[in-house]
Amino acid sequence: SLQGLDLRAEIDRLRKERNAVILGHYYQSPEIQDLSDFVGDSLELSRKAAETDADVIAFCGVRFMAETAKILSPQKIVVLPDMDAGCSLEDSCPPAQFKAFREAHPDHIALSYINCSAEVKALSDIIVTSSSAEKILAQIPKDQKIIFGPDKHLGGYLKRKLGRDMLLWPGVCIVHEAFSETELLKLKAVHPDAPIAAHPECPPYIVDHADYVGSTSGILDFAKTMPGDTLIVATEPHIIHQMQKSVPDKNFIGAPGADGNCNCNICPYMALNTMEKLYLSLRDLTPRIEMDEGLRVAAKKSLDKMLEMAS
Ligand code: 13P
Ligand code: SF4
Repeated sequence: SLQGLDLRAEIDRLRKERNAVILGHYYQSPEIQDLSDFVGDSLELSRKAAETDADVIAFCGVRFMAETAKILSPQKIVVLPDMDAGCSLEDSCPPAQFKAFREAHPDHIALSYINCSAEVKALSDIIVTSSSAEKILAQIPKDQKIIFGPDKHLGGYLKRKLGRDMLLWPGVCIVHEAFSETELLKLKAVHPDAPIAAHPECPPYIVDHADYVGSTSGILDFAKTMPGDTLIVATEPHIIHQMQKSVPDKNFIGAPGADGNCNCNICPYMALNTMEKLYLSLRDLTPRIEMDEGLRVAAKKSLDKMLEMAS
C-alpha cells in the first residue's frame, strides 16, 4: 500500500535513481507542476523530449504528448502515469477516416494539430502546435491547398486571422467547447477592465472576445506583461497555478462554463495523472509508450518538419 509514503520524496528519489526527467503540462495538478523538471506548452515539451539526455521521460500530460516524446526520443523509456489519458481531439479523428479524407483531396497537403494519434501524424505532412501554427502557415505558399485537422476551432481561427482557405476536419476539444459566452460576458461586466486571454481551441464566440489568443505558454507570457491587475483566463484552469506563481500580485479568474464557474473546464484526461500514479510509473517503469518502428519513423517526418519550421 502507498499509505504513509512521502510521495514527493519517493518521486525525487526515483527520478535520480532512474536518471529520469519529469515533463509536465500546464493542465496538470499544482503538485505535479511543482515537481516537474520542466513545465511547458506542447511545442516546448516536444523540444525538451527531443533534447534530453535522461534515460527515462515521465510525461505528465496526455498520451499524444508522451507518444510525441517517444517518436522524437525512441531510445528512451517514456512512461505516462495513466495510459487512459487521451484527448477528445485525438478521439475525433480516427486514422482510417482521416486517410479517406486525405485521399478525397489529393491536391491538398495535410497540416495537423499535434493533438492527434501517431497514425494521423504519419498521414500528415506537417504538424503544428498552437504556438507554432501561424509561423508555419506563413511559410507555405499561398496557392498550396491545405487540409487542417483535427481541431476545427484552431483551424477556423487560423483561417480568419491569416485569411487562408483550408479544409477543416470537424474535431473539437470538449474542455474548450464548454465555455459559455453568456457567462463570460456576465463576468466581463463585473470586471470591465480585465482583459480576456483565450486558447485558440476555444470556439469563435469566445475567441472573438479575447484580447490575447495563444498557446498555454503564450497566455502565461501575456499574464506577465498585460496591463491592469486582473485577467480572465479562457483555457484549462490549472494554468492559473503557474500564473499565480509567476505574477503573485495579479488576480486570475477562470472563464466560466454554463454553470457559471470554471470547474467544468478541467480536462478529465489530464486529471487522470496523479501523484500516486506518477510514483508507480517511476517505480515500475510502466505504463510505457511502445510504438511500431515503421509507424514511428513515418510519424517523425511530420514532427521533424514542425521542429524545423517552428525554429
Ligand atoms: P498548448 O499547451 O500547446 O497550448 O496546448 C494546449 C492543449 O490543449 C494541450 O492539450
Ligand atoms: Fe485534449 Fe482538450 Fe484535454 Fe487538451 S484540454 S488534452 S485538447 S481534451
